[in-house]
Amino acid sequence: MCAKKVTPSQKGEIPTTGHEWDGIREYDNPMPRWWVWVFYATIVWGIGYTIAYPAWPLITGATPGVLGASTRADVAAEIKQFDDANAAIKQQLIDADLTTVSANPDLMGYAERAGAAVFKTNCAQCHGSGAAGVEGKGYPNLLDDDWLWGGDIENIHLTIAHGIRNTTDADARYSEMPKFGVDGLLEKAQIGEVVEYVLKLSGQEHDATLAAAGETVYADNCAACHMEDGSGDPAQGAPKLSDAIWLYGGSREAITETVTYARFGVMPNWNTRLSEDQIRAVALYVHSRGGGQ
Ligand code: HEC
Ligand code: HEC
Repeated sequence: MCAKKVTPSQKGEIPTTGHEWDGIREYDNPMPRWWVWVFYATIVWGIGYTIAYPAWPLITGATPGVLGASTRADVAAEIKQFDDANAAIKQQLIDADLTTVSANPDLMGYAERAGAAVFKTNCAQCHGSGAAGVEGKGYPNLLDDDWLWGGDIENIHLTIAHGIRNTTDADARYSEMPKFGVDGLLEKAQIGEVVEYVLKLSGQEHDATLAAAGETVYADNCAACHMEDGSGDPAQGAPKLSDAIWLYGGSREAITETVTYARFGVMPNWNTRLSEDQIRAVALYVHSRGGGQ
């Protein structure tokens, strides 16, 4: 039903809109002045805001606004501010002799904090967030004192800067274990024997007769890299075989697979992705976390 506006018949009576529900009638009062002015002010403010600040969506991006405000630029400026504030200590880290940094608590503290951040962003996906590696998958634990390529700070720095067996840095660490099985360097039976000998070397359950035969196979084919006593050779990244720490697994099956097909662990070089101060920081971080030598 169409409501009829009711005008007062008597002076002092308030006009109503004519809406009425169960005897309740709706007054037709004007908006309070102050409210109307505030309302107009919000419209003016709204228009002003869209002129001053980035607002209207365009095909790529938005209108920039006459004040040139940009949260992205703010963040960049803030980062630059931090970078500038750290410029001196970064330079100090770059100039320092790596072996003496740990004697300087300020510099070492900075390196460990910066290194931890670099590690979380760049290394954790392979080495685990706690640097404990991924057992059996070829990603070494960086917390123990078992080092493939040497655990002193200079060697750790070199490994991180140039990487391992990658094709992107000519100075990457390189070595290759022969594929004894697939390349026919050893008979299947000889592989069986040498695997039993490696089990013996690492203090595991083994077949004594086969292991005895395997000792000769080992001396002739493996000792040049893994050493006579199985202690490994960091100059070639040849792992120690006489302990319970395994890069690819220490079971009979895993060792047989390693000897048959060999392994070829690759780590990227970081000298093109990280700055020298970041590489030094993360090297010091890794060195301080684990059994750095
Ligand atoms: C894509 C995976 C990957 C990433 C990312 C990665 N690593 Fe590695 N890293 C490896 C592999 C695989 C090896 C072992 C290579 C081998 O078999 O010799 C290794 C080895 C190392 C070693 C040598 C350990 C030893 O026992 O000698 C160090 C040190 C190391 N990584 C540090 C780092 C640091 C620091 C970062 C981050 C800046 C990093 N890695 C990022 C895969 C990775
Ligand atoms: C030319 C050097 C070289 C020779 C010879 C060699 N290896 Fe290796 N071996 C390596 C390297 C390097 C690795 C590590 C590969 C990697 O990190 O991806 C390795 C890895 C291994 C591993 C894996 C260890 C782990 O922690 O998982 C086993 C087991 C092994 N070798 C056994 C042998 C046996 C047995 C022989 C002899 C039949 C042999 N190797 C001969 C260089 C050699």
